[in-house]
Amino acid sequence: MVRHLQSLQDFSKEELNSFIDRAIVLKKERLAGVSHQQLAGKTVGMIFEKPSTRTRVSFESAMYGLGGQVIFLSGRDTQLARSEPLKDMARVMSRYVDGMVVRTFGQEVVTELAEYSSVPVINALTDLHHPCQILSDIMTVVEQKGNIEDLKIAWVGDGNNMANSWIQAAGRIGFELILACPEGYDPDPEIMAAAQKETAKPISVTRSPEEAVATADVINTDVWASMGQEDEQDERLAIFQSFQINAQLMAKAPADAIVLHCLPAHREEEITEEVLESDRCVAFDQAENKMHMHKAILEQLIVGK
Ligand code: CP
Ligand code: NVA
Repeated sequence: MVRHLQSLQDFSKEELNSFIDRAIVLKKERLAGVSHQQLAGKTVGMIFEKPSTRTRVSFESAMYGLGGQVIFLSGRDTQLARSEPLKDMARVMSRYVDGMVVRTFGQEVVTELAEYSSVPVINALTDLHHPCQILSDIMTVVEQKGNIEDLKIAWVGDGNNMANSWIQAAGRIGFELILACPEGYDPDPEIMAAAQKETAKPISVTRSPEEAVATADVINTDVWASMGQEDEQDERLAIFQSFQINAQLMAKAPADAIVLHCLPAHREEEITEEVLESDRCVAFDQAENKMHMHKAILEQLIVGK
């Protein structure tokens, strides 16, 4: 049966943990100079309707690193831009490639492509989720802290696609998560309710960044205006002012708390240059780990290894 990665809900706790374990092994093997050919003869189609640096390059590099190849398609260059139905795109692409990596706006685009595709469809970010990023971020936390299940993760900022995928991970894997969001910018309530049902660990929302970080092991943030929300940038700048990760907020967190940011970062908005460039911030490890995690995802979904 073809497995898709539309959101983290598509995989069991054991499967999510095995992506993380495998990515850690692949990272060590790359350092040791081990070469791989698991995906030799395989091709992935990358359909990107939003900009990307990390996700695009790390997926492409992951494919080449496993002996495979990629075809990159920016949204405007395909017939999708001229309203070809998604169900036709999915069936046509399935005849040419062994997997599709999709970055788009609506989650329903990924859902429909997956419904009609006979090859794996991987969500590389939608307005609702960013599942591959959260797997890379959890890998980074495990590297830094040894595990995630005994930790408290804080999210400070917008209840956006990243926040929603963190909530799904907390429910499925089982770890404590507290999100500090301004009123009106909470994460998706259905995703929240479903995750809370899955775990006995608390998953909660507060209006206070200080409360969120007070006993947190990991402090996580993201841009205040995501791709597609550019028109709201000025309004959000005003609303989110007190949700900045800065030295004052970090002084209220435990001394060994680390800071995560999926990048790109807007310095002096959601995070200060001082904190982003400090030893406590692991943003560039997160960025590197995307490549190792994408290898683990691609090999599992395409050749079932
Ligand atoms: N973190 C992340 O998804 O970055 P890109 O938008 O550059 O892919
Ligand atoms: N929330 C951000 C994540 C970017 C990687 C966005 O969707 O633009």
